[in-house]
Amino acid sequence: MLIVEPASPGEFEQYYALRWKILREPWQQPRGSERDPQDEDSTHLMLVDDRHRITGVGRLHFNTIREAQIRYMAIDIMHQRKGLGSRLLEALESRARELGAARIVLDAREAALGFYRKHGYAVQGEGHVLFERIAHVRMVKQLA
Ligand SMILES: CC(C)(COP(=O)(O)OP(=O)(O)OC[C@H]1O[C@@H](n2cnc3c(N)ncnc32)[C@H](O)[C@@H]1OP(=O)(O)O)[C@@H](O)C(=O)NCCC(=O)NCCS
Repeated sequence: MLIVEPASPGEFEQYYALRWKILREPWQQPRGSERDPQDEDSTHLMLVDDRHRITGVGRLHFNTIREAQIRYMAIDIMHQRKGLGSRLLEALESRARELGAARIVLDAREAALGFYRKHGYAVQGEGHVLFERIAHVRMVKQLA
């Protein structure tokens, strides 16, 4: 399983399709709802298997020159809990370090709190509420 940046229009299409399938479709949200204007200025990483299928996606953008934010982490259902999310998160963190971040923030769904805690993120307070029903918790990790 490789971690690469999507490059071609076709790769971006598959990248957004997985983001939608995992993070939007279960809540009956339309295609397009998985994107936001910051996608233009973000680093996108994806996991690709040896048959060129995308099995995981995640995004990094900067809120300030020292603060990076990770969003839209999604691993294909068939591949969850196999360590792939951890690999992708670590790759996004190392990219954040390379780009000069001192800390990373994220808004975690309550179901994913354990995952981020395991990776050294601490709860800072309430995050946003998505579609009026998915509560998020703001978490932060200081980078060494
Ligand atoms: C959350 C997510 C990105 C984690 O990726 P993953 O590949 O499944 O996670 P990993 O296998 O790398 O997990 C490593 C460890 O994190 C913890 N963990 C993972 N998912 C967890 C969860 N949903 N709840 C609690 N702990 C979790 C476990 O300790 C796990 O180790 P274990 O399986 O040996 O117990 C992935 O499950 C996912 O896409 N979930 C649905 C979408 C989502 O919630 N995205 C996050 C939005 S904020």
